[in-house]
Amino acid sequence: MNLNSQFELIRQSATIAVFDRITAMKAAGKKLVALQVGDPDFGTHPAIVDAALKAMQSGLTHYAPSRGMPDLLTAIAKKLTRDEGVSYDPASEILVTHGGIHAYYTALQSILNVGDDVLIPDPTWATHSNMAIMLKGNVIRVPAPAENGFIPSFEAWEKSLTSKTRVIVLNYPSNPTGAYPTREYLQNLHDFAKAHDLWIVSDEVYGSLYYGERPTCAADFDGAKELTLIVNSLSKSYAMTGWRVGFLAAPSAVIANALKASQNSITCVAPFIQKAAAFALTDPETQNVTVSMRAAYARRRQLVMRLSQELECDKVLVTPPQGAFYFFLDLRQLKMSSVEICERLLEQEGVGLVPGSAFGDQGEGFVRMSIAASDEDVEAGFRKIIAWAERQL
Ligand SMILES: Cc1ncc(COP(=O)(O)O)c(C=O)c1O
Repeated sequence: MNLNSQFELIRQSATIAVFDRITAMKAAGKKLVALQVGDPDFGTHPAIVDAALKAMQSGLTHYAPSRGMPDLLTAIAKKLTRDEGVSYDPASEILVTHGGIHAYYTALQSILNVGDDVLIPDPTWATHSNMAIMLKGNVIRVPAPAENGFIPSFEAWEKSLTSKTRVIVLNYPSNPTGAYPTREYLQNLHDFAKAHDLWIVSDEVYGSLYYGERPTCAADFDGAKELTLIVNSLSKSYAMTGWRVGFLAAPSAVIANALKASQNSITCVAPFIQKAAAFALTDPETQNVTVSMRAAYARRRQLVMRLSQELECDKVLVTPPQGAFYFFLDLRQLKMSSVEICERLLEQEGVGLVPGSAFGDQGEGFVRMSIAASDEDVEAGFRKIIAWAERQL
């Protein structure tokens, strides 16, 4: 069979095996503490659901403009100014997409040529490199080890640079570590990108979930807009993962390409979804969704930190995440692979986690524990992880 050989370069078997096992155990009626999830454990605000229903009832059930409906484009531009302090023209610098993943896809499609080098920190969400590989880019992983706070050093960026490097991919706050760099670091990275004529694709889907100072938007520097592509969505910030709506904000020439990529792949995002998204972004009441979810994650983050102090287990090193809703637990002392740790915790304790190696080599020996679960599950799951680790030699 003549198949697309690029897919042979995408390795995900071990992680898929863990997910398949979780699905099978759930189907068999086994009770699990599901801390592998990347989906808010909150419902979408009923007023957003109403906005979609009203839009459907009013007849918005046909094609919509591929770029996005004007009121949503304007709402996105307003959000970018209000929350990130950056200004984008809704008519030419924004594209409405089918979630953040599609914004990332159209971003890379628009700028990448076959064989271009793409620099991607390790660890990070697997799609960042998988997508670049599918588009025939050459992925170079830039080590962002725990010892460096999961942020690549400038030495590492320099070392990874080749004459074919075209793109840097960032994701802050990071999935899986929650880490994000200082404003000064980002400024320096921009100077680096500018000096080497590189694009920065910045995935900011967790941008409104942070526990200290607000993370800086990658385009929020003088001259940065010209080389930055912002990927974002309503999935994590408004608990709308199933709605599949997000956006790309970038220079107009990039958006012109991204529009072609979108038009020729999905046509448009459903108009009633777009109406609901515009409502979510602008209604004063629905802004509380993000605020209250952030407060709940902050509470669970504190809960885990408190438990970690109480239980004093030196086999599980716990660093409080700066943002997003994951703990990246360091179990390297057990000298087991992440996959083995996850398999055993699943079989022996009924706790679902994601192996750190799914995010790159630097994640080996770590596990990702989500706090997008009830306080009870977070506490029960974390206690089980510690008890299990204590029993290992
Ligand atoms: C870092 C990161 N970017 C993008 C996405 C995809 O977001 P969306 O659901 O909006 O496509 C995810 C989902 O888990 C993610 O973790």
